[in-house]
Amino acid sequence: MKNMPIVAGNWKMHKTIEEGISFVGEIQNRILDTVEAKVIFCPPFTALYPIVDAMGQHPFGVGAQNVHHESHGAFTGEISIDMLKSAGVDYVIIGHSERRHVFGETDGWINKKIHAVIESGLIPLFCIGETLEDRQSGQTSAVLKAQIELGLSGLSEINPDQFIVAYEPVWAIGTGETASVEQIETAHKDVKGILASLFEANGAHIPILYGGSVNADNAKSLIQAEGVDGFLIGGASLKIESFCHIIETVAAHY
Ligand code: 13P
Repeated sequence: MKNMPIVAGNWKMHKTIEEGISFVGEIQNRILDTVEAKVIFCPPFTALYPIVDAMGQHPFGVGAQNVHHESHGAFTGEISIDMLKSAGVDYVIIGHSERRHVFGETDGWINKKIHAVIESGLIPLFCIGETLEDRQSGQTSAVLKAQIELGLSGLSEINPDQFIVAYEPVWAIGTGETASVEQIETAHKDVKGILASLFEANGAHIPILYGGSVNADNAKSLIQAEGVDGFLIGGASLKIESFCHIIETVAAHY
């Protein structure tokens, strides 16, 4: 049997505490506990604990959008793994393209974060993806391989139940331009192959999400793409109607 698909909402820098609590509460009311998809909310840091606290017993996951690899110290503006754990967080997005391209996060930093997060028991949601320039110059496969090998360097094994990869082509993020089913299938196949070559059967079982302009209209065709185990969603995860619709579409496919 297939693993349950994953629908993760990356809110980026959107929603106050009050807006976040009300949004998650509304989703809780609409989506039955038994829904056949793992739903993960990734709000800004300030809303993490209030949302965990407001949800009480719940089937949803909560993820942070970033973390620092050091346990504590003079790192103004940063957040540690223990701080996230004490807020009740289960997942951490690592290496999102906005961290890489807007904030200059390197593969080296990402690798340190991956190691620290895995050791802590939190689940990394490791993002990779090529730029438009990479794609146009035929470098997509090589870029994905380099991001995976550098990001996961030094790991001798991996638990596929405790690790998630998100393939997010940079040119499809927030642009309304989605990768085609064929492009997604090719990239996911490449990623699975690279993970399998690094970690054998465990690598091949790591869930791989697609992200990049997923919305209520395209979710049905994209979830049918071979090798897609769910979605990492930005804009469409901020609205009740679209997010619920996507969750239901993905769950129905399971
Ligand atoms: P959009 O769904 O807004 O394109 O964002 C995707 C994304 O970056 C999720 O992490």
